[in-house]
Amino acid sequence: MGERVGIAVIGLNGAVATTAAAGIAMIRAGSNDLSGLPLAARDVDGMAAYRDLYFGGWDLSHDDLATAAMRHGVIGEKELANGASSLSQMRPWPAVGSTDFCANIDGANKIAAPGHRAAVARIQQDLAAFKAEQELDRVVMVNLASTERKADLDAAALASVDGFERGLDEDDAAISPAMLYAYAAIASDTPYANFTPSVAADAAPLAELARIRGVPVAGKDGKTGQTLMKTVIAPALRDRALHVDGWFSTNILGNSDGLALDDPKSLQSKLGTKGSVLNSILGYPVEDHIIMIHYYKPRGDNKEAWDNIDLTGFMGQKMQLKLNFLCKDSILAAPLAIEIARCLDLAQQRGQGGVQEQMGLFFKLPQTSGPHDPVHAVPEQQRILDDWLDGGHA
Ligand SMILES: NC(=O)c1ccc[n+]([C@@H]2O[C@H](COP(=O)([O-])OP(=O)(O)OC[C@H]3O[C@@H](n4cnc5c(N)ncnc54)[C@H](O)[C@@H]3O)[C@@H](O)[C@H]2O)c1
Repeated sequence: MGERVGIAVIGLNGAVATTAAAGIAMIRAGSNDLSGLPLAARDVDGMAAYRDLYFGGWDLSHDDLATAAMRHGVIGEKELANGASSLSQMRPWPAVGSTDFCANIDGANKIAAPGHRAAVARIQQDLAAFKAEQELDRVVMVNLASTERKADLDAAALASVDGFERGLDEDDAAISPAMLYAYAAIASDTPYANFTPSVAADAAPLAELARIRGVPVAGKDGKTGQTLMKTVIAPALRDRALHVDGWFSTNILGNSDGLALDDPKSLQSKLGTKGSVLNSILGYPVEDHIIMIHYYKPRGDNKEAWDNIDLTGFMGQKMQLKLNFLCKDSILAAPLAIEIARCLDLAQQRGQGGVQEQMGLFFKLPQTSGPHDPVHAVPEQQRILDDWLDGGHA
């Protein structure tokens, strides 16, 4: 048996988290092969084995993970009976939540912390207890919680490390739950990744703190479905000199992520992370790049995405490309969350701190370590990640 790595998840009762936890439990039980896990075929020295990953974490809901998973409808009785029964013994720890930052999502399982500092201390105690109780060698934190509204990036508390520390003392309203978790991780030297569009370790003071302390961080917003396809296709169109006149993207989804995004403020965060990729890959502004996300309950986790691309080719001739992706949101996302945790842990073991740009492949809006633009094109991102996994530096 290898060394045990804990994944402390923010949003442990969510669709992505419960799918990831069930998948790993089933791998341990021998009832799930490694299909759908992007790095399963890679043999990387020092990288944790899937069967050595252990889940814990926080949620606003106190339901056990089996009950939560059944509610999401991604996995069912069959999987629970077939290796994932341990989920019924797992319950999330009380969470730090705010309906100011996430209007449509609330729950009773909240810590009664009087202010930011107490909340941070409590999160750090939870991390330490997780490590001790599960006899873990190392722990990483992954944010899989509901999308928060945009942060007020001009606030003094988000301008510098000192400003942030003062903001913690004064319970500054600009500091969100996502930032409190990220700070708690970084300040306790726990690698941190953000799978959501919320502002967290990408807030200037937290990115700086991660750099100073040498803690690996990565984000943000998992690149799973429509944006993955966009960043695969756009480089090909660029390389064949097919000019993109317009790109219309629309989605329907009916899971609770969709419900969170039904709040216009949370939706704005998501559209922000989805929107920036095209111009950067193509090298010119696509005037008509329209993205829509609709909450449509009957579909549950079975998201449907349509893309219509208008193109101009040789001799100015017009063409169209249509794409229709019927995907399972969490079945695409859970393996990525798992690989992100393994890469973060590997980065820490290699002594690499700060923003892990080589992990950009996993994210819609890859966090960078400086003011430069991130790489968005999948073939380039894949090469960068492969080089790093092979032992080179990003
Ligand atoms: N394909 C995908 O599913 C995909 C892709 C990219 C990004 N994401 C992002 O990943 C996140 C999770 O997606 P999901 O489908 O699992 O959503 P979900 O709504 O099923 O789960 C989110 C969970 O977070 C919990 N939560 C909310 N605020 C919290 C807080 N402050 N502390 C602790 N827990 C909190 C909720 O109670 C819920 O159980 C979302 O932000 C989503 O935008 C998902």
